[in-house]
Amino acid sequence: MVILAMIKYTSSIAGISPLRLRGFFVGWSNKPSPRTHLLLLKNSGHLVLAVDEQMDKAVGFITAVSDGVLSAYIPLLEVLPEYQKMGIGQELVKRMLKKLKGMYMVDLLCDKRMQPFYMQFKMSKATGMMIRNRTMQSGRKR
Ligand SMILES: CC(C)(COP(=O)(O)OP(=O)(O)OC[C@H]1O[C@@H](n2cnc3c(N)ncnc32)[C@H](O)[C@@H]1OP(=O)(O)O)[C@@H](O)C(=O)NCCC(=O)NCCS
Repeated sequence: MVILAMIKYTSSIAGISPLRLRGFFVGWSNKPSPRTHLLLLKNSGHLVLAVDEQMDKAVGFITAVSDGVLSAYIPLLEVLPEYQKMGIGQELVKRMLKKLKGMYMVDLLCDKRMQPFYMQFKMSKATGMMIRNRTMQSGRKR
């Protein structure tokens, strides 16, 4: 499918309803609902959304959490499959790194296959540790 889209980048969730957040978390077995997605965007501290204005929906997003002094962590980056390979992912990372420019540490965890993607932003390979509580993958019950 060829999509010729006008993509707008925004750090505001004003006007973003759960209805405009459908289709994300591809491949997750127990995915957060669009409503939970909106909540995590609200709570993230830093966020960039890619919006296809014509289709009236979000097509990509990146989040970061930070202590506002030394460190920031980028937990989530995703572009909807039909919008991938158009430069949207790169633009989201570029814009987020600009927001986090004053930080000493900017970290993220990723699969090995993703390392070349992040290396184009001068990020370096590192070793990490993590906990994944699979039963909580869709978010805390509210
Ligand atoms: C990763 C992801 C956000 C990239 O988004 P995208 O909009 O397709 O990426 P872009 O079009 O901006 O950039 C792709 C570029 O990065 C390069 N690249 C390098 N390694 C890559 C990889 N493992 N995956 C995707 N692109 C990669 C591509 O070659 C391409 O470069 P080019 O334009 O010079 O050919 C998207 O594939 C995605 O949402 N994947 C599923 C979720 C995911 O894996 N998120 C990252 C978690 S760490």
